[in-house]
Amino acid sequence: LDAFKATLDRLTGAYALAVLIEGESELILGARRGSPLVVGWGEGEMYLGSDALAVGPFTQHISYLEEGDYVAMTRTDARIFNAAGVPAERAIVKVAASSALVEKGEYRHFMEKEIHEQPDSVQHTLSEYLDLVSAKAKPAVVDFAAIDRIQIIACGTAFYAGQIGRYAFEKYADLPCDVEIASEFRYRDPALSKGTLAVAVSQSGETADTLAGLSWCKAQGLKTAAVVNVHTSSMAREAEILWPTHAGPEIGVASTKAFTAQVAALLSLAIAAGVARGKIDAAKEAELVKALFEAPRLISEALRMDAPIRNLVQDLAKARDVLFLGRGPMYPLAMEGALKLKEISYIHAEGYAAGELKHGPIALIDEYTPTIALAPMDDLFEKTSSNLQEVAARGGPVIMIAPENAPDPHGAGIRRVHAPDAHPIATPLVYAVPMQLVSYYTAVQKGTDVDQPRNLAKSVTVE
Ligand code: AGP
Repeated sequence: LDAFKATLDRLTGAYALAVLIEGESELILGARRGSPLVVGWGEGEMYLGSDALAVGPFTQHISYLEEGDYVAMTRTDARIFNAAGVPAERAIVKVAASSALVEKGEYRHFMEKEIHEQPDSVQHTLSEYLDLVSAKAKPAVVDFAAIDRIQIIACGTAFYAGQIGRYAFEKYADLPCDVEIASEFRYRDPALSKGTLAVAVSQSGETADTLAGLSWCKAQGLKTAAVVNVHTSSMAREAEILWPTHAGPEIGVASTKAFTAQVAALLSLAIAAGVARGKIDAAKEAELVKALFEAPRLISEALRMDAPIRNLVQDLAKARDVLFLGRGPMYPLAMEGALKLKEISYIHAEGYAAGELKHGPIALIDEYTPTIALAPMDDLFEKTSSNLQEVAARGGPVIMIAPENAPDPHGAGIRRVHAPDAHPIATPLVYAVPMQLVSYYTAVQKGTDVDQPRNLAKSVTVE
């Protein structure tokens, strides 16, 4: 144990270690710095794992090691020490049974299963923040009237969820909201007013950059909140306010149901903020709450589009580059669509604000570069539609995801995927589904490893 401690003192960087020693069959040593590590307490057996989910099939009794902790484990006991080498008490908590939830069941991939779980995960998440019976937002712990700005910090998919949230906070609550990639935010000395609420958004709650950004805000004396799916994670414990999402365990590396759960939480909180700040009256609140609760049904409807999408992707799978376009909240969704496609199919894709097309990306358009447009029937539809005509006029293949009753843009080669018509607040939740299915079936068509794409990890706990 002394040698182990002496070794740890000489290590730099982030790690979570499990050490076996030849000839010591009754001892496992573990240590963490920068990466999570948990001790699982079984009956006559002990476990070390990266998180509660990893040891979930064996035990529900977990101790979370804190930063710098190390542990000496036998078959029946664990002695935990802090970074200074002093014995430390780490509570044994009981986590929800989850092993049954991490089976693929009838699905070919976890990602496919998780896409299909979204009516439930969105419903559960909405119910955390909104009450359908009274058609009201539940009180949101924080006094939104006393806040003058929201700073969202996140990475990857969670960053795009944050950007969708921003549209809602500004539109429905007149609350200025900035969203920044955590790896930039944490190193740029941002100027934040004391009235800023810092909100970390994360599925895992362990992403190193987001956690560092959150801790930095906390150290500046800002109020902090975390929208997280793993409710026992480092971010959940670090933030003053925990705003949970209820997506359940997400196994596929490419996030789907955790994303829509984040969006559902942020949209719901935007309604609560709007009410608290006197920006929406009871009638508007009821309209928005009811509209969001329609989303699970509309998502189920969107899931039924998988057959036409499977046909469409035959061509898409041959593409080298794909452009995703959207306006308003469909713009971050377009970026999320591009991320999803590159992650699992390895096709290069970019998400753009449709209005930016003429400012550069249109130069990419040719008959080999498909454009996928997210075009709900809102007040921006006509504008997106005319962008698609421009693409089609240059010979670019177009896939337009829009309601069945949306008029056809003039132009040859425009193919359609029908998405259910939804209230503007619910549109990002509904349109996420066809966008995810496009990526999923394209990857299946290409035969890539959908659940564990090359070079990617589910939780990025190092910089
Ligand atoms: C999503 O498909 C990605 N795998 C990735 O961008 C992810 O969203 C990002 O690493 C953030 O993870 P988090 O939500 O656990 O913080």
